[in-house]
Amino acid sequence: MTRRSLDRAAEGIGHVSPNPLVGCVITSRNGEIVGEGTYIYDNLIHAEAIALEKAGEKARGGTAFVSLEPHDHHGKTPPCTEALINAGIARVVCPIEDPNPLVSGRGFETLRKAGVDVVTGLLADEAARLNEQFICWHQKKRPFVHLKLAMSLDGRISLGKSVSTAISSEAAGVRVQDLRHSHDAILVGGNTAAVDNPSLTDRSGKKRRRPLVRVILDNRLRTSVDSIVASTTAAAPTIIFTNSEDGRKIDELTEKGVSVIVSETGARDLKFVLESLRQMDIQSVLVEGGTEIAGAFVDARLIDKVTLIAAPFIVGGHTAPVAIGGNGARSLETALHLNDLFVENVGRDVVLTGYPSF
Ligand SMILES: NC(=O)c1ccc[n+]([C@@H]2O[C@H](COP(=O)([O-])OP(=O)(O)OC[C@H]3O[C@@H](n4cnc5c(N)ncnc54)[C@H](OP(=O)(O)O)[C@@H]3O)[C@@H](O)[C@H]2O)c1
Repeated sequence: MTRRSLDRAAEGIGHVSPNPLVGCVITSRNGEIVGEGTYIYDNLIHAEAIALEKAGEKARGGTAFVSLEPHDHHGKTPPCTEALINAGIARVVCPIEDPNPLVSGRGFETLRKAGVDVVTGLLADEAARLNEQFICWHQKKRPFVHLKLAMSLDGRISLGKSVSTAISSEAAGVRVQDLRHSHDAILVGGNTAAVDNPSLTDRSGKKRRRPLVRVILDNRLRTSVDSIVASTTAAAPTIIFTNSEDGRKIDELTEKGVSVIVSETGARDLKFVLESLRQMDIQSVLVEGGTEIAGAFVDARLIDKVTLIAAPFIVGGHTAPVAIGGNGARSLETALHLNDLFVENVGRDVVLTGYPSF
């Protein structure tokens, strides 16, 4: 049932940020499922409340399986702890505490004080992974950064720095759209914006609460005013970070609806970039390259997750850009090591996902 509560929670992907994914399953005294709910930000009703409403009187003496600690404070909605207690729930099974330090542990405490049996820790790793973006947001006080690159087997991401190359298969392309769907923003470097002229949109076909925000790190303002990202700002926001003093280009881009954020350090200051995005309530950023941008994030250790999509061919040569540039590691000890590596075949490609071990 805990897994089922995580599945319910996952149905909220694309609809909850900057809040957490929460799912709830209620079973009656005799173990029958009598109510289920998924939290959706815009519906202003929490997963527990939806499940309790469906369960009605059958919830009395039953168990609530909740994917994240029920909240105990009066926010936009009344406390879920109160609703569970008033409904006569006898037991709450919940894998993890809320990571928000202001409320963490309080929900469990209130439930226990009211005589509810609280069981924690079951499927805790899975529950934490499910809410990895929300947890990072509260613990690191910045957006979750997920680096994703498509490469050849010898780690090349295109045929040349000024060449746009479609590396992934169609099946892997579908996976990429799903990744975009589960993030608040997508980020690329100025050269990728100039060379690829990408649209950087969520084409998963799934509904989302807020449009995917497009972020470009571009000190020399190489992003053209006629580019797709500058011409489609009515459909999805585009933000450019720069230290350029080219007032005319800035005005032209601004007229097209692009938000140009000019600062002294410009796009090179990744902490400033992430802090600016945090202030816009952006909880997660999918970094899609190219080489230099990936290298900058790796060098700064500002990465929470890595997805590499390897296509079954070798490019070779000395000019095709490698996946990760930057300064690189001077020893294997200081290389970026990945934990919990997960390898899957997607179409003809291999998708590797891992978590940096620092
Ligand atoms: N296969 C894939 O997954 C994939 C994905 C994306 C791109 N690509 C390919 O990668 C190639 C482009 O890679 P690239 O390395 O030349 O370009 P890039 O990483 O997209 O952009 C590099 C430029 O970004 C600017 N920049 C701004 N802030 C930066 C920061 N904090 N750190 C580093 N650079 C920063 C720098 O120019 P300024 O100082 O002028 O701003 C730098 O020259 C193209 O061939 C493209 O098709 C492949």
